[in-house]
Amino acid sequence: EPKRSLEPEEHEKLRTQMDDLYQRLLPSDESEGRRAQLVKKLDRLLNTEWPGNDIRVNVFGSSGNLLASSDSDVDICITTPLKKLESMHSIAMLLHKNGMEKVVCRASAKVPIVKCWDPELNLAADLNVNNPLALENTRMIKTYVQLDDRVRPLAKIIKYWTKRRILNDAAFGGTISSYTWICMIINFLQRRDPPILPSLQKKAEERKQPENGKIPQFADNLDELKSFGGANKETLPDLLFQFFRHYGYEFEYSKYVVSVKEGRLLSRQEKGWDPANHYEKEARNRLCVEEPFTLNRNLGNSADDYAWSGIHGEIRRAFELLADGCQLEKCCEEYEFP
Ligand code: CTP
Ligand code: MG
Repeated sequence: EPKRSLEPEEHEKLRTQMDDLYQRLLPSDESEGRRAQLVKKLDRLLNTEWPGNDIRVNVFGSSGNLLASSDSDVDICITTPLKKLESMHSIAMLLHKNGMEKVVCRASAKVPIVKCWDPELNLAADLNVNNPLALENTRMIKTYVQLDDRVRPLAKIIKYWTKRRILNDAAFGGTISSYTWICMIINFLQRRDPPILPSLQKKAEERKQPENGKIPQFADNLDELKSFGGANKETLPDLLFQFFRHYGYEFEYSKYVVSVKEGRLLSRQEKGWDPANHYEKEARNRLCVEEPFTLNRNLGNSADDYAWSGIHGEIRRAFELLADGCQLEKCCEEYEFP
């Protein structure tokens, strides 16, 4: 049976290490400044090339959800009624002509994107056009991060661990995206007893009188919701330890689906992702994480059996290193290819 909890002195040791690491992971003002400059620069480039098309440059992902570090890529969503920009080719050309490097156009991806590197600002960017879902789910993640003071440090430290162990590159590594990890973290916090986070989507449904008659997708009345997790007294070291314990040893992957929308687990049977049903395409996936707004999308499906067993092994490795003398540094040691 894996160790249940930290001893008081271990707890203090881990607390110090987590505080130090979190301070190092906060983005510097200088890097935030460069991010803002990139947005400005793109705004100017696009609106000069195609004036009068109401082109707006929005950030999403970690640049918009309070979970960025100084070296995070900038995720950018351009919104415009000018349909021809959606194919991304003309944007790729424009970036290339204006000094951006490593411009790559993935026009056939599920969401077409252009990747580039800005050598002046030392930033990598991913751009897409007219993808309102990404803006909306980013705003919801940000709201979850703001609800309880424990979410931001916990999520940043776990994200750092996934980066160092190469567990967060759905596109190339066959692993899972940062976004998937974030959903797993939020759902873990929704399922603590007492819960630290509510389901913001359920809170929105519960609200009696929607302003202007339209029910919002998720609740964002921070002032009222801020007290939600107060009854739970777990500390950051407790939560980090329990996160790895939970996903390393407790969670029954063959039975359950992580659902941020419901704020609980769904059975794979009720979701229709039952591993016993060989005709169902999600049935084979080892990890099931429901995208909160597009419920038939399984965010876990970028990891095949092989990738998943690697990830699961890494979660257990992290747990063992914390259980055995709180070795946070070793836990986040850069992965070395054998
Ligand atoms: N996204 C999505 N569906 C996915 C992956 C990503 O909708 N399967 C969108 C989400 O809006 C997410 C954003 O793309 O917030 C960026 O995803 P990702 O880069 O994985 O997360 P970040 O928070 O940006 O983390 P990182 O700092 O590692 O880039
Ligand atoms: Mg990102």
